[in-house]
Order: sequence, then C-alpha cells, then structure tokens
Amino acid sequence: MAGATASGEQGWSSRTAFILAAVGAAVGLGNIWRFPTLAGENGGGAFVLVYIAFVVLLGLPLVLSEILLGRTGGSDAIGSMRNVAEQSGRSKRWGALGALQITAGFLILSFYSVVAGWVINYVFISGGDFFGALFAGDPFSVAFNGETQDQITGRMGDLFADPMRLIILHVLFMAATVGIVASGVHDGIEKAAKWLMPAFFVLLIIITIYGAFTGNFAEAVAFMFTPDFSKITPIVLNEALGQALFSLSLAAGGLLTYGAYVSKDVNLAPTAGLIALADTSVAILAGLMIFPIVFAVGLDPAGGPALIFQTLPVAFNVMPGGALVGMVFFILIFFAALTSSISLLEGPTAWTMDRFGWGRKKAALIVGMVAWLIGVACALGYNMWSDVRLLGFWNIFAETDILDTLDGFTGKIMLPLGALFVAIFVGWRADANVVKAQSGLSGGMFILWRFLVAWAAPVAVSLVLIFGLLPGLLGE
Ligand code: PHE
Repeated sequence: MAGATASGEQGWSSRTAFILAAVGAAVGLGNIWRFPTLAGENGGGAFVLVYIAFVVLLGLPLVLSEILLGRTGGSDAIGSMRNVAEQSGRSKRWGALGALQITAGFLILSFYSVVAGWVINYVFISGGDFFGALFAGDPFSVAFNGETQDQITGRMGDLFADPMRLIILHVLFMAATVGIVASGVHDGIEKAAKWLMPAFFVLLIIITIYGAFTGNFAEAVAFMFTPDFSKITPIVLNEALGQALFSLSLAAGGLLTYGAYVSKDVNLAPTAGLIALADTSVAILAGLMIFPIVFAVGLDPAGGPALIFQTLPVAFNVMPGGALVGMVFFILIFFAALTSSISLLEGPTAWTMDRFGWGRKKAALIVGMVAWLIGVACALGYNMWSDVRLLGFWNIFAETDILDTLDGFTGKIMLPLGALFVAIFVGWRADANVVKAQSGLSGGMFILWRFLVAWAAPVAVSLVLIFGLLPGLLGE
C-alpha cells in the first residue's frame, strides 16, 4: 500500500519508486558541481576524507532519522515534526525544526536553479555544435571545434557577464521544476526520477572511464586520496560537514517531506544505506571524472564555482564525438539537477498546500516564483551587483558574492543546525519505542545507530559549528 499524507497526497507507488526519487534528490549539482569545487578549494584528499567520515558517521544515521520522522509524522515537514512531537509527549514547537529545514531548502532552491541554468547554457552550446556538425556531415565532431583552450574556458566568464542570459536560463530551469512538482508526487516526481536517474548513471560511468584513459588520472587520484592533515582546519571541517548534509539532501525539508509518502511496510534502514551509498559513489566518480581533466589541461583545482564548466568542455573538445557526448552529458547533469530541485521545491510546496489550503499547482507556482526572484539576485551578483556582500561583516563571507553567500550560509550554518536538532530530537526527545519500531533496526545495529544519532552527531556538529563559525564572527 502506498503512503498518504494528511492532505490526502498520493504516496510513492513502490519502494523502488521511493528509492529512485530519494537517490534523485540526493544526486545532483551537489555531487557534480559543489563537491569537486569544494574538494578543489580545500586541498583535495583531506577534505574528501573528512567528507566521507561525515557521510558515514553522521549523514547515513541522519538520513534514516529524517525519513523515519517524515513517515511517522505523515504530513509536510512542519506538520510531521509537530505530529511526532505530540505523539512523543513533547512540545509542538518542534514544528520550528521543520520550518528551519523548509527555509533552508527554499533558499538552496533559489541559487540551485541559477547554477542549473549554467548547465542548460552548455546543453545549448554543445547541442548547437553537435547539430551544426551533423548537418555538415560530421556527427562525430569534437565540441568547440577550432577554439583554443582559453577560448573554451573563457566562455564561462562571458556567461557570468551577461545578466539577461543568466536570468533566462534560470527561468527555464525553475519552470521545469515547477512543472514537475505541479504534476504531483506520483505523476510528476516519481516519473521524472524513474527515467532520468538510470540514464544518468550509465553516462557518468562512460565519461569517467574516458577520463581515466585520456586525462591525468594518477595525479587526480593522488590529489583526491592523499590527505594532507595540515589542511584540516575548523572551517574545512565546517565545509565538509555542510557538503555531506547538502549532498544527502539532509536538513532541507526534502527527506522529511518525501518520507511522508513512504508506505509503512518499507524497511527504512537498508533504504537509507542505499541512498547514502549511491550519493557518495557519484560524488567520488564525479571527482575522478573532473580532476584528471583539470590536471591534464593545467587548470587550477581551486578554480571555484566555474571549475566544472571549464573542465568538461575542454574534455569534450578533444574527445572523438565530443559534441554529441558533451550534449548528452550536460543534458544528464540537467536531469540530475532537476530530480534534486523538485525535492527542494516539494518541501515548501507541501507545507504551503497544507497551511493555506491551496491546490498543488498554485502552491508550486507561487513558491517557485518567489525562489526564482531570490535567484535573480544571485545571477546579478556575477555582474551588476558583483560588489554586494550580503554578510560582509562576517569574516567567512567577506569575499563572497550573493550566490556564494547564500550557498555558504545555508551549507555552513542552516544545514548543520537543522541536522543538530534532528539528532537531538530523534536521539533524546522522540518516543524511543516508536523510533525503534520505525527504524527497522535491532540488536547491535540499533545501539550503534542510536549512539551515532544521540551522541556522536550532536557533539560533532556542535564542535564544528563553534570552532568553524565563532572565530569568524568575533573577527579573528
Ligand atoms: N542533494 C542535492 C544535490 O546534491 C541538493 C539538495 C539539497 C536537494 C537539499 C534537496 C535538499 O544536488
């Protein structure tokens, strides 16, 4: 039987459907864009190691916790938190945790759509190259034929300098997201994930293998897996924690909301394991796909948010059939981004439906429009408003443009806070019997999970927050 929420929402049609949707939510720009960017900026191996430790020790237990809370609560993120708190004899004010999460997801959606717009830009460019070559009788042409490497990497700067283009691309992506969420859990979200995710995995593997043979694979492996422990500062820990949470779609309302659509007979623990495994594998594969190219063409791994948009086109420029592969690959990144952005929009949409009694279409459209407006500010932050520093008084945001500030604020602060309170709630406040029954865990596994949620997560997240953020705030 499929799960259904208080608002009468139809749930997932099967466990597989839920897994695909949840993996779809997890795998996205976080893996292919954010992970390589942060790993590159933070020195590679040490960051990757800490990131994986956070995924295994905190992320995975929290994925189970959030899906469990959603399914037990059976409503939107705020409603579910209130319900579970009430069932456990706790204050309904725990609903505020749902509100924190939904707000984080909403803010992430606003800049996520802008970055996804960059992906669409490259779908168009490589698509134009491919069809141009096709009509000229050369379907296996490389992408960016005849351009120098500098010209290819320079295209990203051209895009950033063009506010109109950034905004139009951002409209396209947000419209696609709204369209799917408006079509419903079953006919929209689930269908999208079912088709897009498997195709994505196949292409990712093909391109990684290609990179392994043609790029500087050895240097990339050394960069990603040789930890230099002197690079692990509190702020790197904070970045890595934020990235683990971001990538697993934790603390942003997505899993709480999707959890409510899961039927009672699904065993949650192995499902959570699968989501974490798939997500982490894609991040590592994305690194192994991007860094060999970075080193082969002599780009700086610390190149920032533009990094993947400069490396991949370079690969498609030398790869036989690069125009075709490039086009298909950017389409697939677009799909991966889409299955994530719909989970970002679903959280606030479900809440708006329950709260104001709006229909799904209206709720998705209005929430999407407001998020889009915030995204416009992010897009302008690359050109007209490039001097704006939203949180300039705070050390860690002193140098960041609008998009980076939103990204950093949600990732470094809101997600860790949301995760901290999920851990405290599931570890200490929720009815232990309900939690145990819902988790599907028993014996030593249950004790281990409970220890990680009740002790390890709160302590680690608190320490990371205190040491990562305070020095910056105090201006040290
Ligand atoms: N996990 C998604 C990604 O890695 C982003 C996301 C965050 C989706 C939070 C939903 C909730 O791209």
